Amino acid sequence: MTARVQELLERHGRAAAVYQAPGRVNLLGEHTDYSGGFCMPAALSFNTLVAASPRSDSLLRMHSVDFGEWAEVNLRNLQVPAKDAPTKWNFYCEGVAWSLAQETGIALKGADLTITGNVPLGAGLSSSASVEVAVATALLGIAGQTLPKATVALACQRAENGYVHGSCGIMDQYISACGVKGNALAIDTRAMTAELAPIPEDLRLVVCNSMVTHKVAGAESDYAIVRREVEEAAHAMGRQLRDVSLDELVAARNTMSDEAFHRGRHVITDSARVVRGVALLKANDSAAFGRLMTEAHASFRDDFGASCKECDLLVEMALELEGCLGSRLTGGGFGGCTVSLVKADAASAFAETLQAEYKSATGVVAQVFICEIADGAGKV
Ligand code: GLA
Repeated sequence: MTARVQELLERHGRAAAVYQAPGRVNLLGEHTDYSGGFCMPAALSFNTLVAASPRSDSLLRMHSVDFGEWAEVNLRNLQVPAKDAPTKWNFYCEGVAWSLAQETGIALKGADLTITGNVPLGAGLSSSASVEVAVATALLGIAGQTLPKATVALACQRAENGYVHGSCGIMDQYISACGVKGNALAIDTRAMTAELAPIPEDLRLVVCNSMVTHKVAGAESDYAIVRREVEEAAHAMGRQLRDVSLDELVAARNTMSDEAFHRGRHVITDSARVVRGVALLKANDSAAFGRLMTEAHASFRDDFGASCKECDLLVEMALELEGCLGSRLTGGGFGGCTVSLVKADAASAFAETLQAEYKSATGVVAQVFICEIADGAGKV
């Protein structure tokens, strides 16, 4: 048992089972997951831990160790919060109970949950999905039920869309539920299936947090705005962008706004990069895969318009460093982290130099992580 799990159990104060679900980094295919497209995330060893024990009533009592706060709801009487209510940490937990009951009809049992996480918040590494999937796994465990992992992911996405009012796609919850150690997953978000995309053992994913925070929840978040523009492109084409070729989009350019055209072009090219990317990883062509990541950044910055100057700077700096095969912003955009593909023997020097150069250029100390690719959610 790790020290973190032991400390959590001590805080919980009574016999409990412990469940975990990871955060993620995405390698290719950004903003493709609400267009039926492909994306390629990997689960990280940062996760949310939930200690859970059953209660004899129908209350869900939640204790966030990290916020030092408690919350309580009755599972028989869950009310969706108002759209303009400020988002609270406990919404992500209650929302999962709400959607599991709605979608699966499973009779959940009352539970005490003690929750802690080490996924950096607001950094684009899916801390919220990791909370949702960890709590869902815990609530199912307490109820003695199992569901297919993809169903758990869908219920968690529904919690975020319908209860927390965040307009996310399926990528984060899917990888948190289904991730496989040592691999990224090339997810077909329409079929809800995935193919293993093995990351060679002599390479590392180095994640660097620009410390520019982003916000995904809420109708007026940057995420919601770009998503509407992507949807405008799909609407103009009369079908999901998954089914639209680049030539077709170009031919229909004057039927949509300039923003919709550029967002749409990124979505189509980035989804295609996932398909090329899996083939390259399977053929062990890491150099070409790295170049694809860098190309994805240019598309995200220039077509999608959702990078920021700090992340552009980090990518530029990373690409100059020894052993770096590719680099890009990861996640929803407008800040957060970059991910670089780096030769394992160069990774420590890479991380140190990147941090030092970013600090001297911006005065900001970035968090830099040489990541391990972990398994998806489960009982600890
Ligand atoms: C956020 C969302 C995901 C996905 C990414 C962008 O992480 O939660 O569903 O849309 O942004 O790829």
